[in-house]
Amino acid sequence: EQCDIGFIGLGVMGKNLTLNLADNGYRIACFDLDQEKVDSILATDKEERGDLPARIVGCKSYTELLSKLAAPHLIILSVPAGEPVDHVCHHLIDAGIQPDDIVIDTGNSLWTDSVNREAQYKGKFIFFSTAVSGGEVGARFGPSLMPSGDPYAWTRIEPVMQAIAAKVDPNTGKPIESNTPGQPVKEGEPCATYIGPVGAGHYVKMVHNGIEYADMQLICEVYHVMRVALGMSPSEIADVFSEWNQGELNSYLIEISAEVLRQRDDESDGPLVDVIMDKAGQKGTGLWTAVSALQVGSPAQTITQAVFARSISSLKSERVQASECLTGPDNKTLSDQEKQAWISELKHALYCSKICAYAQGFQLMAMAGKEHGWKLDFAEIAKIWRAGCIIRAVFLQSITKAYENNDQLANLLLDPFFANQITRYQQDWRTALSKAVMAGIPCPAMTSAISYYDAYRTSVLPANLLQGQRDFFGAHTFERTDKQPGKKYHVEWSDPNRPIVPIKR
Ligand code: 6PG
Repeated sequence: EQCDIGFIGLGVMGKNLTLNLADNGYRIACFDLDQEKVDSILATDKEERGDLPARIVGCKSYTELLSKLAAPHLIILSVPAGEPVDHVCHHLIDAGIQPDDIVIDTGNSLWTDSVNREAQYKGKFIFFSTAVSGGEVGARFGPSLMPSGDPYAWTRIEPVMQAIAAKVDPNTGKPIESNTPGQPVKEGEPCATYIGPVGAGHYVKMVHNGIEYADMQLICEVYHVMRVALGMSPSEIADVFSEWNQGELNSYLIEISAEVLRQRDDESDGPLVDVIMDKAGQKGTGLWTAVSALQVGSPAQTITQAVFARSISSLKSERVQASECLTGPDNKTLSDQEKQAWISELKHALYCSKICAYAQGFQLMAMAGKEHGWKLDFAEIAKIWRAGCIIRAVFLQSITKAYENNDQLANLLLDPFFANQITRYQQDWRTALSKAVMAGIPCPAMTSAISYYDAYRTSVLPANLLQGQRDFFGAHTFERTDKQPGKKYHVEWSDPNRPIVPIKR
């Protein structure tokens, strides 16, 4: 019997995606350069299936993999982003892949690589990209999927992607959970929607990760204030997070943060978090989002600050040295009442900052979409992020509604619901952050978020002075608010009379 899908790359994500496909009734031929990984998935399949026939076939080469598949071939890759993707593609060409075969890249690839690959492999096979979010559990029991590429290929891929994707209860917007092997969730709205031409899906996933960086950093800043300025223990902070998780801040990241904070360590006989080295790693997607925001000219300072926060964290030895010579404010002892007040202000500061981080991410996608000619459907994008992915949150249901109410919404902050939320909580946001600044606790993401909000709502920014400065030293010219837009002026600064002269084109 021929297999339905070929799967290449059986790392944690690949293995779990393969098992998920098999749970959904697909017969899979799989291959990895590391034969032990092939053996491992066959063993897992056997364990889960018991006496039932195997759903997964192991292969020893690319050629064998192709020979096991029904034509036209459908092959999914889960290999590290970058060169390994092309390495596999070249081997598939050598093994005799056909022009109407489809190769789907599910790694965290740079979106421009996907665009180049579609062109590069045209005529040899159809290169299609599907970005995946959700980590290993998501991959196993339902990830959020961001497919993009040839629309004809999508018609063939769609049922597969919809089957394996996470599912959402359309009424509540909440994930329908299952973590039982062999029992995939069938009902509910699948978190997989066609994003657009190749590259668009990986771009959207990249921004998802940028938002993920911001979301994580915002939570870490709140933790930092509570741990240092409020002197709370990790388990006390975990309790606060668990409580917040019941309301509008309900999200996977808040939930897991509480779990991390509760984790004990036998060796140090204390909270594990206290012995985790405070140097953050990064694989690049947050950086790509920040770079893209700068290139597109879309203000995404909270996302960018989250990337910088990881950079400064990795300067550990310098920070240790600096901590011995650079001074900060003295710590104040707070009354219980003051502590409680600050905690509740922090909750609102986190929420408002989170709104800004998402506003930045969606604005970035809108500006990039315009630049690249993608017709991104933001209600659909928010919908597929409601379950399966790392930033899944109740909050995404409100974003879905905002874009369903107005698909031309220029910025989430202009949506009446979110605008109201910020109006309601902004005093707490300001107070919480002023206190953090006075206490010397760095909150780069939250303070950047409030500056973003304040800048966005300000009709006259000091860029007028900036334009004056530019004109002074570089004759860069400026427009006047009281004259025709687009008309340029320059001051002859070196002339004692400093005449203001209109520039002729
Ligand atoms: C996801 C995650 C996933 C991964 C990233 C981020 O959506 O499932 O974003 O893609 O965790 O690689 O990793 P870094 O924090 O290492 O950049």
